[in-house]
Amino acid sequence: MTKQLVALRVNRRLHELAIESSWLLLDTLREQLQLTGSKRGCDDSSCGACTVLVDGIPMLACTLLAASCEGREITTIEGVTEHGALAAIQKAYGDWGGAQCGFCTPGFIMTVKHLLATTPKPSEEKIREALSSNLCRCTGYSQMYEAIKAAVEAEQKGLAGDEKNAPSRT
Ligand code: FES
Ligand code: FES
Repeated sequence: MTKQLVALRVNRRLHELAIESSWLLLDTLREQLQLTGSKRGCDDSSCGACTVLVDGIPMLACTLLAASCEGREITTIEGVTEHGALAAIQKAYGDWGGAQCGFCTPGFIMTVKHLLATTPKPSEEKIREALSSNLCRCTGYSQMYEAIKAAVEAEQKGLAGDEKNAPSRT
């Protein structure tokens, strides 16, 4: 099949790629740009492991055609760091054990990034509702909720990156 040139803006960088019109965004990110943080966890759009932000909105990269994303701003887990430092939610995941095997984590982080950007102080119910689009097969949901609450608190206090909110380890 013939390839077409498509300009994709990913993590604030513009990439001109020769791709086939049928290529999915997930495969293009992983195989053409070596951005392997976004995962393929299912075959039926149900796991959310491939979640990326497209113009700030969480979308499943396994269902989107890469060519349809031309002119849009794509953010993957690799683009979540802020000025070279972990974002509050990434740090909180580490502090609170939000990731177990870690396979689902990039997708969850992207969903949470959108949640915190649109609802800076989400209720427990709002957090649960947002996370319902992602699946964790290790089922460590309670640590994730704690991590999200810690990230909300850190962002509220402007303490992202501060050790103060981390649980003590004995
Ligand atoms: S890989 Fe499971 S929803 Fe995309
Ligand atoms: S941490 Fe293993 S699938 Fe979620």
